[in-house]
Amino acid sequence: MKRIVLASICAATGVAGAAMLDDDAAINAARETLAKMTLEEKVSLCGGSGTMTLPAIPRVGINSEWTMSDNSATVRPQMNRWDWGYTKPKSQNTMLPCLSALAATWNTELAYAHGDVLGAEMRDRGVDQLLGPGVNIMRTPLNGRNWEYLSEDPVLAAKMCVPMIKGVQSHNVSTTVKHFCLNNQELERNSVDTICDDRTFNEIYLPAFKAAVKEGGSLSLMTAYNKVNGFWCSENVYLQKAILRDRWGFKGIIVTDWGGQHSCVPGALAGGDVEMNRGDGIVHYVNPKKGTYPLAEAVKEGKVPLETVDEMAFHVLYVMAKTGFLTGADRGKGSRNTKEHQDVARRIGEESVMLLKNDAGVLPLDPAKTRTVLVIGGNADSKQCSKGCSAEGNSPYEITPFAGIKARLDADAKVTLMPLQVATKAAATDTKAAEIAGGHVQKDKDNGAVSDAGALRAAAEAADAVVLFTGTELGYKENMESESRDRVSMNLPPGHDEAIRDILKWNIKKLVVVSRSGTPVGYTWTDEAKTFVQISYLGQEAGHALAAVLFGDVNPSGKLPCTWPKRYEDTAVSQMGTYGKKSVIYKERFYVGYRWHDFKKIEPMFPFGHGLSYTTFGYELSVPKRSLSAADDSVSVSVKVSNTGRVDGKEIVQLYVSALNPKVERCVKDLKGFAKVAVPAGKSANVELAVTPRDLAYYDVLSHRFRADKGEYEILVGASSADIRGKAVVKLESDLVFED
Ligand code: BGC
Repeated sequence: MKRIVLASICAATGVAGAAMLDDDAAINAARETLAKMTLEEKVSLCGGSGTMTLPAIPRVGINSEWTMSDNSATVRPQMNRWDWGYTKPKSQNTMLPCLSALAATWNTELAYAHGDVLGAEMRDRGVDQLLGPGVNIMRTPLNGRNWEYLSEDPVLAAKMCVPMIKGVQSHNVSTTVKHFCLNNQELERNSVDTICDDRTFNEIYLPAFKAAVKEGGSLSLMTAYNKVNGFWCSENVYLQKAILRDRWGFKGIIVTDWGGQHSCVPGALAGGDVEMNRGDGIVHYVNPKKGTYPLAEAVKEGKVPLETVDEMAFHVLYVMAKTGFLTGADRGKGSRNTKEHQDVARRIGEESVMLLKNDAGVLPLDPAKTRTVLVIGGNADSKQCSKGCSAEGNSPYEITPFAGIKARLDADAKVTLMPLQVATKAAATDTKAAEIAGGHVQKDKDNGAVSDAGALRAAAEAADAVVLFTGTELGYKENMESESRDRVSMNLPPGHDEAIRDILKWNIKKLVVVSRSGTPVGYTWTDEAKTFVQISYLGQEAGHALAAVLFGDVNPSGKLPCTWPKRYEDTAVSQMGTYGKKSVIYKERFYVGYRWHDFKKIEPMFPFGHGLSYTTFGYELSVPKRSLSAADDSVSVSVKVSNTGRVDGKEIVQLYVSALNPKVERCVKDLKGFAKVAVPAGKSANVELAVTPRDLAYYDVLSHRFRADKGEYEILVGASSADIRGKAVVKLESDLVFED
């Protein structure tokens, strides 16, 4: 096997501009401009001048339109002014892996690099505001947008989104953290009312948004389509004023999701700033097509105070000033699809590959001895970059997994692709069920082509290696993961599992199963598969990234950012009956993902945080100081990680906390920190993680504060949520209360 090189993270991309304007200067610049504006101009700034723009107002020095673009993995081509078509020529931007892949790396430096590429490409194209990252919690495997999000765990989501935001915004542009909040399903997203208790809300669903705003400094935030506790997110005083503005001190733009504004006056009074993609302007802030300003009328009629409109416009001007857009500062040049950007895409892809089973040591495959490879499953050669609705892109190229395997081997190696032998009858699309769930069942990608089982078996037995490819796909048609709809079922369409199980029975010696999906799939055969690799949608370098791991150029180091349940019936939403169309009450409370599995002692297919390597790691834990007394106190947890195998590798050390004898109901354990460390073969490396009293806290609904009760807490350090390698008890000497 080739020696594995542990490459360092690349430096910033593009030509840097001036540093972002400091807060005082930005506030002054925004105030000066605001003072020059008429009421109509202020209102006009609070609504789109096109599908993805805010208006230019040259009279006051806003000389060009402020431009927005989706998403979290690429800078999507620009939209036409008044529709969802792309402007011509369509721009081509680097397609990075999706966010569920980024989270699977657990690598905060790569998260920065991911953001850095996006920021550079925004500058190159003149985009001012990115509509991402999405940080909603993966609450159910059915959510059609899980692949656009980071994790089921608030700490992992928070720690990964912060550097990503910093990377983007280092280019004098704004991110837009979305979708605030409780948008954890796509089913009926435009009408569903989500009802969540205060403790769960604060412990599970708010932390990533809070980190994005307070630590990451995201300059913009997008409200979600759904209602929260009876009120539209875009008209929700509690969410926008009490939490965002008052509690977190957010000064940036609060923008509605596209078409997510319902009425002008309540919207404005509830603390939002910008309404995008409006209709006819009757109940909306502004209709640039007609030049009507209902919000201005509402001010004149005394329904909305002028100060409210001033605040709304101020927030927009503040962001325009911070980024240098308003002040004419040098914002840097940016760059697009450079070799460096392609490398970042590939490296995130490589580090996100999750080796979930390697029981017979089939992986890595030896490229020198692998002369014939049979790839089974048409999805292995299907392109995903241009799919996924607002998360789609127009990448300059896309290496499919099949193309990646071919490219990795010598030209004279024979790599062939055969479709899965799904029996056509069994695989018929269940359109009725799909419609009910608002989704689509995946059709066989081989356009009805199926392999003859005998021919497939003969080809598999003759090949040096067989890569069986399965999973879900992106997009609206015939696919299973997409914005605005959930998956019909956690399982693959009829016929697929049976076809895969048949192949597993053939006992092919070098058989690798690769699954591609942004969220767990209810496969029924993973016990029988000896080698199982999971990837998300990895962007333009997907095939290269996967092949590098399969052939051992890169040692896998991705770990699951969410629990993989054995079946949908094992999940909290299923067992608690908390998934539906009209009003969804989060009755499972904070028992989301591994917290639910721990609580109910339900064994998952693969636990949260699981992922193997081609080497093995030993853990040695030491916690010299065992007591904590003040809020600013901390104990240092040091972990000696030894690489006990023969190849270099990277390990993700995870730290969980468990309250011993708690006064209130607590989860069995909660992730509080992690670190990814590179360890050369036969060597060891030290990881230091700090635990503070705030890490021991829960949200107290009576005092509306986080509170840590005096007592003992167990620190658990491990390679996954189920593979704990060391424990230590620390004592909190006094009760402590935290502001937030
Ligand atoms: C999506 C957002 C997206 C917006 C603009 C909406 O349908 O929910 O995530 O940013 O469209 O494209």
